[in-house]
Amino acid sequence: MNSVPIGLGVALPSRCITNTELPKELNTSDDWIIQRTGIHQRYVAGDGETTASLSTEAARKALANAKIHPQDVDLVVLGTTTGDYTFPATAVIVQKNLGISKGAAFDISAACSGFVFALDVADSYIKLGKARCALVIGADTYSRIVDWSDRSTCVLFGDGAGALVIQAQEAQNRGLMSCSIHSDGNYSRCLLTSGGVSTTGSAGSIKMFGQEVFKFAVEKFCESLTEQLINNHMTIDDVDLLIPHQANSRIIQKLIEISGIDEKKVLINISKYANTSAASIPLALNDVRNAFFSGGNTMLLSMGAGFTWGSALIRL
Ligand code: ACO
Repeated sequence: MNSVPIGLGVALPSRCITNTELPKELNTSDDWIIQRTGIHQRYVAGDGETTASLSTEAARKALANAKIHPQDVDLVVLGTTTGDYTFPATAVIVQKNLGISKGAAFDISAACSGFVFALDVADSYIKLGKARCALVIGADTYSRIVDWSDRSTCVLFGDGAGALVIQAQEAQNRGLMSCSIHSDGNYSRCLLTSGGVSTTGSAGSIKMFGQEVFKFAVEKFCESLTEQLINNHMTIDDVDLLIPHQANSRIIQKLIEISGIDEKKVLINISKYANTSAASIPLALNDVRNAFFSGGNTMLLSMGAGFTWGSALIRL
């Protein structure tokens, strides 16, 4: 039994803020942000827009695209670190919004690796025969937890959601061929929030040692790419699409340089959305959805707070 992607949907808040529209007091510039990160704009959630509402919209589109009725979904796994509530899980709100009343729904906390972690868990359920049709969602609203007076972090993030429907199919050489997830808590203080429910009683705001994260991301992207190539007896030339987490275009350029992959195969869309954390990979997949669904080998690479990192090879 294999997990085969059959539908994809995304959602963005209605408000878009370009670099030049950022508050003057931030003392940043369009040039600095573009040169250091590749970001031109980001979408920011407004009143009534939340991780659950964006996830629900993305999931509805994914189900419509897959031509699947919500009642056929028996698992909802949602990667997020900006849930609507401390509890219940945002996944159960999405489950209710969609009218799904069976199976299980839960959140996964792996920051920017949330989507790949959620994909790995859902795939395992399908492979074990414990689920037949899963909604895998990556969604975050980091605009709600950035410190809007800290120019070194607030310019980097945006909000959004993406959902992928995966279905159990008797397919040997098609679908999610392999998926790996990793974490190393020794790096937990390189990228974290300044608070939490059990420590300060609040969500806190993002604190990051940017250069450490940068180096680690390059190293783990390269390591994960090699891991998946070995798992699938492939060379870099066999990869048709490479979808890395969008944190910084310079990180992705380093990956291209080191791996030797043809640059045309690598998706870089950070200019449009900034770093949307767990939503970054499905948003990127959506930007090349025709190529993704029309066949070939698509490699996903993620890296986030924890540190967490993960990768997947999808063949359609
Ligand atoms: N505008 C203008 N200047 C700025 C800004 C800004 N927005 N931000 C920082 N600067 C200044 C700094 O104050 C510093 O000034 P100084 O030299 O006078 O001290 C200078 O720019 C250089 O700062 P650095 O932090 O050294 O800049 P760097 O080139 O490392 O870029 C960045 C910073 C963009 C954060 C980079 O390190 C990066 O992308 N890191 C990786 C982030 C990442 O991958 N995150 C992914 C995971 S996110 C998650 O999981 C939640």
